[in-house]
Amino acid sequence: MEVFSTFEVIACPRISYIAAKETGYCRPKFQNYLPKTNRTSTMYTSLVRPLLFQLDPENAHNVATRLGTAFCRLPAAGQRLVHRHDGRWPQLEQGFLGLRFRNPVGMAAGFDKNAGYAGLLRFMGFGYAEYGSITALPSRGNPKPRLFRLKKDRALINRMGLNNDGAQSVCRRIQELKTADPDLFDGFPCGINIAKTHDPGITGDDAIRDYVSSYAAARSAADYITLNISCPNTREGKTFEDEDALSELLDAIFEIRSKEDPPLLVKFSPDTDTRTSDGLLAVCEDRAVQGYVLTNTSAKREGLRTARDELDRIGTGGLSGAPLFSGTLNRVSQLRSQLPAGRVLIACGGLDSPEKALQLISAGADLLQLYTGLVYQGPACIARINDELVRKMYDLGIPSLSNWPRNAP
Ligand SMILES: Cc1cc2nc3c(=O)[nH]c(=O)nc-3n(C[C@H](O)[C@H](O)[C@H](O)COP(=O)(O)O)c2cc1C
Repeated sequence: MEVFSTFEVIACPRISYIAAKETGYCRPKFQNYLPKTNRTSTMYTSLVRPLLFQLDPENAHNVATRLGTAFCRLPAAGQRLVHRHDGRWPQLEQGFLGLRFRNPVGMAAGFDKNAGYAGLLRFMGFGYAEYGSITALPSRGNPKPRLFRLKKDRALINRMGLNNDGAQSVCRRIQELKTADPDLFDGFPCGINIAKTHDPGITGDDAIRDYVSSYAAARSAADYITLNISCPNTREGKTFEDEDALSELLDAIFEIRSKEDPPLLVKFSPDTDTRTSDGLLAVCEDRAVQGYVLTNTSAKREGLRTARDELDRIGTGGLSGAPLFSGTLNRVSQLRSQLPAGRVLIACGGLDSPEKALQLISAGADLLQLYTGLVYQGPACIARINDELVRKMYDLGIPSLSNWPRNAP
């Protein structure tokens, strides 16, 4: 049996892990290593996050994405000094929706609304990303400030208001990227999330036409499409979370939908009651929608540590982050028990640690997404989640993530 030095185990946790698996390297020593990802994570929480949190949240997002993009263009040797993971964990590679995902952790919609950061997202180690929401007409969104941190809750409130460059232009950008750099999306599928244009004047049949036109733009660019029927930030305050409205919308989409179109998923809100969710699910299942994203942000404010007067000062918007987690977990296990085999469930809402990822996958999630977790934990949390999944699979003796036992501890 080959024995690995502490140096090797500390320096190359993932390579050592794979080698360890093949050689039967003793587990206790492996469990004692300090993964590189933990050190990178500490650097983020103790150095980078305090600096970013000095800035207004939206500015911090812009600064971080620009710096990140510049950084990931550095020569490979420089990148490897601080970033060891290429996002590939052979044991975590899976096929869903006819697509290959190099790992199950995806970037949730809203982070890269205009598909400007695909290279950065891949570089950070995500297994896939959902771009958008895009809308038929471009929109500048709501007036600023429109993004707020609730540090005590490890949460955010946003009322961005679907700011984006418009479906045609974003989808063209993705197509150009795919042509210019086909490797970029290899094992790194591209979801496009579509919503209704942020304009209260667009209602009824016009609203349906608006959605359908985004769908038509997205279908030639996306690897999968998510229908965002649950955005709490529409100017008219309404969503498509009504059985009749959703039926009409899906009918209109399926009228133009062809067999070659990418798989279609629907994104639900965490706020709908069981009866409404069951009704919406029935409407989607009637059309054999291929999967669901659970969930969007919440309009509720219950159980938060942040003071009531601060919440009042912030005002309306969608809550995201840690407070959503228990709801996400419940919805995932509930929906998994209601769905026929083969439907894809993407869990989203409050994911910020390997432990939560294990819980979501055990409850029935096929894929995961996060946004707020990235803001609070930094990019290393992606590799930490994937490392821990591999380690747990090793403990359970599971060769591939698709063999993960549902309701495993
Ligand atoms: C600033 C911000 C903007 C968002 N924009 C969108 C969006 O345009 N479309 C969408 O479907 N979800 C959007 N979301 C919701 C996220 O995709 C996700 O569903 C939600 O934040 C819960 O995940 P999290 O707790 O990991 O952040 C947004 C979230 C945030 C924080």
